[in-house]
Amino acid sequence: MAEKIKEMNTPIPESANVSLMNCIDLSSSDVQSSVSLLKQACLDSGFFYVINHGIDKEFMDEVFSESKRFFNFPEQEKMKLLKNEKNRGYTPFFDENLDPANQIHGDYKEGYYIGIEVSEDQADAQKPFYSPNRWPSEDILPRWRKTMEKYHQEALEVARSVSQLIALALGLDINFFDQPKMLGNPIATLRLLHYEGRTSEPANGIFGAGAHSDYGLITLLATDDNYGLQICKDKDAKPQIWEYVPPLKGAFIVNLGDMLERWSNCFFRSTLHRVLGNGQERYSIAFFVDPSHDCIVECLPTCQSEKNPPKFPTVKCKDYLLQKYKDTHADISSYT
Ligand code: OGA
Ligand code: NI
Repeated sequence: MAEKIKEMNTPIPESANVSLMNCIDLSSSDVQSSVSLLKQACLDSGFFYVINHGIDKEFMDEVFSESKRFFNFPEQEKMKLLKNEKNRGYTPFFDENLDPANQIHGDYKEGYYIGIEVSEDQADAQKPFYSPNRWPSEDILPRWRKTMEKYHQEALEVARSVSQLIALALGLDINFFDQPKMLGNPIATLRLLHYEGRTSEPANGIFGAGAHSDYGLITLLATDDNYGLQICKDKDAKPQIWEYVPPLKGAFIVNLGDMLERWSNCFFRSTLHRVLGNGQERYSIAFFVDPSHDCIVECLPTCQSEKNPPKFPTVKCKDYLLQKYKDTHADISSYT
């Protein structure tokens, strides 16, 4: 459902649409009603809020403050922590171009990738998405690493709980996604984001973040109070209709990724979304939850039939992700 809105805490056009999304209370003991709310949201928009998720509000504020501290450093300092080939570290403004067909240059955002910490001497470090993280020096940001590691752990627990509700909504065993080859050893990536204050101009190809869908199972997004995120429920509609997703204090905005769309044979969809700058700086924190490197994503038995055969070939998680990151990010060698 979309509604016209007149008053906002941050400026957006008066005629803008706002999406009303279901809110899943993770502390509720009524699992059946949570599952049905979630299922309805997955069928309608692929986006919903999660509240009472167990992460302390003060702690969330601290994660945002630490993120701001980093992005406030001069570009030259941040470039010392430039993203490496294992996808860890800093991505400058314009590094990523999520929708090259419609953007005249890259996204008006800078970011910082933090994955699961795997030391070089562990066998897993051979895998493309596992390695040690890049950390700013403790001399300049003494609490940074501890804060980000704690947030990563806590967000993963929230993702596990949400994955249980998704499994039930798909008629699967509650632990279908929360098993060793899936979220037992996941590729889970925290991404701090900072959007420049520039106003986007969709007609001229200028976006905070270009239109895209996320790649994995789910994404947990925390945002500040500024509007910016928009979703498009029907990417084939002409013209496309974009609706704002209002920020909700203390909640996660959760959306489904491409792998879940493939698993569910498009029963659940990974919805197109983008970010428009409204003239104010904006901070957000995305937590991308993908299964293990070698997990094979194939159509679920509950989502196919003779009349509805699998729509996608099977794919290995790491192959899908590698291709997506390659398609959207600048080559690291372009910075040297
Ligand atoms: C993303 C994303 C939205 C936001 O990083 O994939 O969609 O509000 N972010 O920052
Ligand atoms: Ni996204």
